[in-house]
Amino acid sequence: MNSFKQSEEGIAKLKKELNAIIVAHNYQRPEVQDIADFTGDSLELARKSVGIEAEVIVFCGVRFMAETAAILNPSAMVLLSHLEAGCPMADMIDVGKLRKWKQDYPEAAVVAYVNTTAAVKAESDFCCTSANGVEVVNAVPNDEVLFVPDRNLGHYVSTKTAKKMIVYPGFCYVHDRITAEQVKLAKQRYPQAKVLVHPECRPDVIDMADAALSTSQILRYAKQSSDKTFLIGTEEGILHPLRKQSPEKEFYTITPDFVCADMKKTTLEMVLETMQTRRNVVTVPEEVRIRAKQAIDRMLAIT
Ligand code: 13P
Ligand code: SF4
Repeated sequence: MNSFKQSEEGIAKLKKELNAIIVAHNYQRPEVQDIADFTGDSLELARKSVGIEAEVIVFCGVRFMAETAAILNPSAMVLLSHLEAGCPMADMIDVGKLRKWKQDYPEAAVVAYVNTTAAVKAESDFCCTSANGVEVVNAVPNDEVLFVPDRNLGHYVSTKTAKKMIVYPGFCYVHDRITAEQVKLAKQRYPQAKVLVHPECRPDVIDMADAALSTSQILRYAKQSSDKTFLIGTEEGILHPLRKQSPEKEFYTITPDFVCADMKKTTLEMVLETMQTRRNVVTVPEEVRIRAKQAIDRMLAIT
């Protein structure tokens, strides 16, 4: 029996024993996505977390996503598939920096991208994801918005709103390193391709794309489109569900090395070990959880 099969069987057995549900982000390794009960983008995973009745949620993704599940579903035990799977962009802002920044803009509301720690969400007025940033910012009652931490998503949203946006200079190293020149070269190679990018890409990359979308929005766009070839400007894990749902279509990432090292830390063996040992329990102090939940609940009420 190969090691994937062995792990799959162990995971299936433990799922029953622990009354567990496995959720995975669209960037996870194909074999990890395949054993999940639910896959999705950050917004879908947050929404799903609210209603999960299982005793254990095994979260295959990065820390801020598992924290969001722990914030929204405090009665479940949330296990993160790899202890050190984090998001470098989320770590670019902390509570101290945010508090200091807020003092300079007392009239502004803080909108925190979901890629932030629970503590930063607790200091924010609204949460948003890449799927609903524009809707959330437009729904904020204040005229001024402090947006943390992604400068590229913040810039993208600022082009779609009349609000005055002050954007923190954080970025995702995976998306930010893609250049307009690379898009140009990819388009020369596949001139007929539709270009779908994530809003964490740089503004000049987004300008060259047919659409800037969250990971699940990319999946829906590609499914509904009559086009046959797509250039994808996001982490390569998305190629697995894209090819699965539309085997007759062709999908290529803009560059071959479009990889988030943290998203790839989780292996099938690690999911099994995490369940066997019930390790990597993600907890959020109650006082932080309540305040972070307010920011997330406000987002969920808008979209
Ligand atoms: P999505 O919410 O679009 O899935 O994106 C999450 C993320 O981390 C992008 O880098
Ligand atoms: Fe964070 Fe970028 Fe990885 Fe998404 S792709 S989890 S933003 S480092």
